[in-house]
Amino acid sequence: MNWNQRLAPDDISPWLGQALREGLLDDAKPSVLFHDLVGLRSRLKELHRVFPDGTLHAIAIKANPVVEVLRAVVEAGAGLEAASMEEVELALAAGCLPERLVFDSPAKSRSDIRRSLELGIYLNADNLEELERIGESSPELLAGAKVGIRINPAVGEGRIAATSTGGLRSRFGLAMPQDPEGIEAFAKRLASFEWLHGLHVHVGSQGCDLTTLVPAGERALTLARAIDAAAGERRIDTIDIGGGLPTRYRNEDVGIAPAEYVAAIRDAAPALLDYQLITEFGRSVQAPCGFAATRVEYVKELAGEPMAVGHLGADFALRVAYRGQDWWLDISVYSPNGEPKDLVDLRPMHVAGPLCFSGDFLARDRMLPAIEPGDILVFHDTGAYTMGMWSRHCSRGMPAVVGIEGDGTFRTLRERESARDMVRFWS
Ligand code: LLP
Repeated sequence: MNWNQRLAPDDISPWLGQALREGLLDDAKPSVLFHDLVGLRSRLKELHRVFPDGTLHAIAIKANPVVEVLRAVVEAGAGLEAASMEEVELALAAGCLPERLVFDSPAKSRSDIRRSLELGIYLNADNLEELERIGESSPELLAGAKVGIRINPAVGEGRIAATSTGGLRSRFGLAMPQDPEGIEAFAKRLASFEWLHGLHVHVGSQGCDLTTLVPAGERALTLARAIDAAAGERRIDTIDIGGGLPTRYRNEDVGIAPAEYVAAIRDAAPALLDYQLITEFGRSVQAPCGFAATRVEYVKELAGEPMAVGHLGADFALRVAYRGQDWWLDISVYSPNGEPKDLVDLRPMHVAGPLCFSGDFLARDRMLPAIEPGDILVFHDTGAYTMGMWSRHCSRGMPAVVGIEGDGTFRTLRERESARDMVRFWS
């Protein structure tokens, strides 16, 4: 499957049939989350193909923290990016070698810093105080430290201002001055940390395109050169360009293939490709591999308009429920045996989740075929930032996560959470 292609309702139908036959989806197990492991491996292969040899593709764990998914990522030759010490442990549990692991939390404690230096993982500091803390480590630890500093390149917010990391007032990293004198002074300050060898930028997540992604890399390159000049020697050898490639959630969304991204870097800032590069893609790798199926429990009228109630809602797709102006999931309707319903006689339907608050909708006035109780709804492109942002509101257990293998077999990647698991969780 090429990079910008999406799983279509007809691609999914045989898998739904199989899940029904294998008893993975029934009255007692009304939802299942699928992850296409073949698609995942082919996306990782494409990253390795188009970026320079030796690039470390540290896939963002937060996008999909299921250990078996992380293990598939590691086995395909990629590394991992952790945003917390817990994610560092998830990476190690998935078999990631410390030297393939990048740690980016904006709130690292002294013990987090010590543990990561002892482990020998790559550390991106968020601010000057953190660099100073790292500098207080023992000379032996500092000698082997692999440290970068995150810069806010301030190249623009992209389409989704609320969660963008590319605006002037974005909260992550050091704001980089824009004028030559400011850059020189800034570089001089950073050059005083003699063990600092890396720069990190990340603009995203979603809503950005090459007009923000490429300038972010260019600004890192400018700063790398200024730091080397201030130090009077080659200091910066690693540039981490972060993630942020967009995903196509609708057919009208424009996708950016990694090959286009690399070509645009080669045009605008070819010298960037001579550094040890790190990338931190999350959404663009994982989202298209996932889809979620849920049984419709009831269909009722809401002021004369039909509303289907399923078993996945704001617990699963937090941003879609709370910020529907920015986020969208395509929905397909299947009959109880897994056959796609014909796209005729479409009507506006509301699609509601199971939670006890009135905003729990994943779609309003969506043009869909008539939905009946027992039908199956599929939410598309849910492989990133869904179960990873799972909400415990109403204490509903997370459905099983099922991996689809190349020979068409299913493998349980994470067991369904039972009511007993919830009792344990809150005890
Ligand atoms: N690197 C860093 C430092 C990040 O903060 C992120 C995502 C990534 C890499 C991966 O970015 P990606 O390639 O996935 O765009 N729906 C969520 C998204 C939060 C993602 C934050 N950071 C939300 O709205 O909160």
